[in-house]
Amino acid sequence: MRSFLFLLGSSRLDGNTETLARHAAAALPPDVRQRWLRLDDHPLPAFRDIRHSGDGVYPVPEGNERLLAEATLDATDLVIVSPLYWYSVSAATKLYLDYWSAWMRVPGYDFKARMAGKTTWAVTTISEEDESVADPLVGTLRRSAEYFGSWGGTLVGYANRPGDILHDTGALERAAAFFGAT
Ligand SMILES: Cc1cc2nc3c(=O)[nH]c(=O)nc-3n(C[C@H](O)[C@H](O)[C@H](O)COP(=O)(O)O)c2cc1C
Repeated sequence: MRSFLFLLGSSRLDGNTETLARHAAAALPPDVRQRWLRLDDHPLPAFRDIRHSGDGVYPVPEGNERLLAEATLDATDLVIVSPLYWYSVSAATKLYLDYWSAWMRVPGYDFKARMAGKTTWAVTTISEEDESVADPLVGTLRRSAEYFGSWGGTLVGYANRPGDILHDTGALERAAAFFGAT
């Protein structure tokens, strides 16, 4: 059974990016499981690179880190729902991605092999009317996804103030078809 994990990376509630993602999710068949996690509700500590100190092994995660790691491993599909912040993902989203490096090195997680079967998708909103401003965000997410597994694609909407996304009818139409014949 497909199981979609939506990771909300905005630093405000009820933002445009979440609204756009919810439109896309509404088109998923009812037998596809959906889980929604707001990264700000599960803050991660600063990431530490210990790959080359000691044995390079990361401890089994606890607390919020464990919740996010296990949610990631349990999903078949990861949907990164991040507004465009300075041409890239939000800080909370980037921190979550950095932890993929740690989870690859947690004994027993088999993270890299388990990620190989997953598809990662991106949903973003931008306030500049030129979709190419999102190229760095798309590159970051697509390349990271392909490092482990498959890339699903990007859904981009134009919006600035909360609610603006509801006026981007083109984006809402693309949202309805985004996950395709999943
Ligand atoms: C810190 C910050 C940086 C931003 N950087 C950009 C940017 O580089 N390009 C852009 O088009 N919009 C930028 N925006 C605007 C947001 O992408 C836009 O308002 C978006 O709809 C916010 O999504 P949300 O409502 O889901 O939080 C930025 C907003 C913030 C708060």
